[in-house]
Amino acid sequence: MSSELQRWVQEAQSTGTLQGLPEGHFIDGLAVASADGGTLDTLDPGTGRVFARFAAGQAADVDAAVLAANRALKGPWAGMAPAQRGRVLHRVAELIRANAARLAVVETLDSGKRLSEALGDVAGAANCFDYYAGACDKHQGDSLPLGPEYLAYTLNEPVGVTAHIIPWNYPLSTAARGIAPALAAGCTVVAKPAEQTPLTALMLADLCHQAGVPAGVCNVVTGTGRDAGAALVRHPGIHHITFTGSVNTGIDVMRAAAPNITRLVLELGGKSPLLVLADADLDLAVDNVMGAIFENAGQICSAGSRLLVARCVHEQLVARVVARAQALSLGHGLRDTGMGPLNSHAHLHKVAGYVERARARGVAVRTGGCVRADPQTGLGWFYEPTVLDGLAPSDEAVQEEIFGPVLCVQVFDDLGEAVALANGTPFGLVAGIFTRDLSAAHRLARDIDAGQVYLNEYFAGGISVPFGGNKRSGFGREKGLEALRSYSKSKSVVARL
Ligand code: NAI
Ligand code: MG
Repeated sequence: MSSELQRWVQEAQSTGTLQGLPEGHFIDGLAVASADGGTLDTLDPGTGRVFARFAAGQAADVDAAVLAANRALKGPWAGMAPAQRGRVLHRVAELIRANAARLAVVETLDSGKRLSEALGDVAGAANCFDYYAGACDKHQGDSLPLGPEYLAYTLNEPVGVTAHIIPWNYPLSTAARGIAPALAAGCTVVAKPAEQTPLTALMLADLCHQAGVPAGVCNVVTGTGRDAGAALVRHPGIHHITFTGSVNTGIDVMRAAAPNITRLVLELGGKSPLLVLADADLDLAVDNVMGAIFENAGQICSAGSRLLVARCVHEQLVARVVARAQALSLGHGLRDTGMGPLNSHAHLHKVAGYVERARARGVAVRTGGCVRADPQTGLGWFYEPTVLDGLAPSDEAVQEEIFGPVLCVQVFDDLGEAVALANGTPFGLVAGIFTRDLSAAHRLARDIDAGQVYLNEYFAGGISVPFGGNKRSGFGREKGLEALRSYSKSKSVVARL
């Protein structure tokens, strides 16, 4: 651990918080209180205690941010040469790296996640800004061959003011992966982080400003979904919405966007299958299953929450996963033990409810299934790593997103059945396939309905790989060059010579 990281961790552990955390919205280049002065508390899931206070945004604050973002559309950001915009975004990446230790400690305090995961998220956010910095001056249009009597070409124009609704499981990463391509495309931004985890998006907006992103180009309004989020997505002054969160809220957001015909990208839930075929490397499969469901305590839209396993290796694989799950120690994210807490008390009880109901239905709970506290302090919102075995395709635990450290195991006898099980939920976000048989792997990749398929490494890829869902997992793609298209309007120009 670097000495700087140690310093922030020590301050957080001894005082329960950090000095100098952001308190206001970030609007038009300034930290500002809510118009009505309202505030909310944010809690540390590792202790369940309040550690910071932030502005409770309402429609008036959203109005101010959307106004600033519209003014900024006509300002220097839009007029800047794309390569120059790229240089500014590279500076954002450098500032994220320079502030990585503090950002990671704040992320851990606010979300509960383990410090090493938070450091990974911060590094990923910096990479994201570098990637889109480099893309600014390569986001080119086409010339269209209509013959010698015409000149025809397309222009990529920024869509305008983009709204970003950010969830609590990856507060900084999700903010970065929306804001960086929006800025690269020449758009302006109003982001609304989750009320459970408002701090790192505010810090990111401040770093963007320090890097030279002009005032009004990147704004953050904090507050609840009901007050700030709903006011933002129904605002006629925004031109695009990127929403990441639950299916039900996604439906509300889509409805709110309809009257204004606001474009949107929806990145919703998942119930993603991780398939292990009979010939798979089981050591590799076990490692990947563990990461797929217990990283971030399972609070990942693309978690591998269903293990689909060939009958002949089922018992062997599940026994090994159970043993590894039992060896994971729980603890506050700053101590970076095996698994951190769930993000909120309400969410903990939602997760526990799924397992309680499964147990009552007679489902085999192979390990876990209990609410816990941090063994050092007796505090916090922890849940044991849990494995539910032998689930029927229609089981509630198979069909619904639990969003916690609960692995649901299903068994298949042949590849046809594997595909049917994999596709047998309302979701279509990702799928993982573990096999040494290339032909089987690519047949499954073809037949499974998902936005991305990982072969022999779950979560493989990075910022350059497009990401998004099918079915009730949403539509539109983030990351990669596809995200730049999401934040651009194509204009065709055709001239008769
Ligand atoms: P949510 O979808 O309600 O919250 C996500 C974001 O939307 C937050 O910033 C929230 O303030 C905002 N929001 C809420 N209502 C809104 C509205 N009417 N208009 C605009 N913005 C609004 O999700 P919640 O309640 O935090 O979690 C519920 C479940 O959602 C979880 O148990 C999990 O299954 C799923 N979820 C999925 C995520 C993903 O990565 N796809 C992320 C977070 C939650
Ligand atoms: Mg919090």
